[in-house]
Amino acid sequence: MRTAVWPGSFDPVTNGHLDVFARASEIADEVVVAVLINKTKSSLFTVEERIEMLEETVAPLGNVRIDSFHGLLVDYCRDHGIKAIVKGLRAVSDFDYELQMAQMNYRLAGVETLFVSTNPLYSYLSSSLVKEVARFGGDVSGLVPDAVLQRLHEGLSGTMGTHSTQA
Ligand code: PNS
Repeated sequence: MRTAVWPGSFDPVTNGHLDVFARASEIADEVVVAVLINKTKSSLFTVEERIEMLEETVAPLGNVRIDSFHGLLVDYCRDHGIKAIVKGLRAVSDFDYELQMAQMNYRLAGVETLFVSTNPLYSYLSSSLVKEVARFGGDVSGLVPDAVLQRLHEGLSGTMGTHSTQA
């Protein structure tokens, strides 16, 4: 079975992510969306919340599952017998850093990186921008899955804060 990993922070998952997960799921037997546990980076949602939102979001895609990892992505790949990473490219501005990471991951462990071009409908979309717009009352409906919209609305009514990332 050809499994590919899609790593990221997903704080939170957006419809841009969902579009590329669906397309990756057409070319790999299985796609594992792996949420990075990064204790040095503050996040809006806890890892558990991000995983819950991802699970609800990918439920209709039969061959996509959610996991989390910490440390090096190539170690996760080695431990799970995964030979390919899949990432999205929204614009040329993504390319420099993505290429560096792809080359480093290949250098470290021979793990290949495949890139899926983002749907132009979502090329401007990022988790950071969604958080900023939502925080100041902007309408992000249509840009994030319903599971995320609901949590953003709940958060905006008083409970949303910044978390240190925990396992
Ligand atoms: O959604 P993000 O935060 O842009 O995703 C970045 C991520 C998680 C893909 C990247 O930071 C990563 O792979 N981190 C794991 C640590 C690692 O392997 N670093 C070396 C990369 S060459």
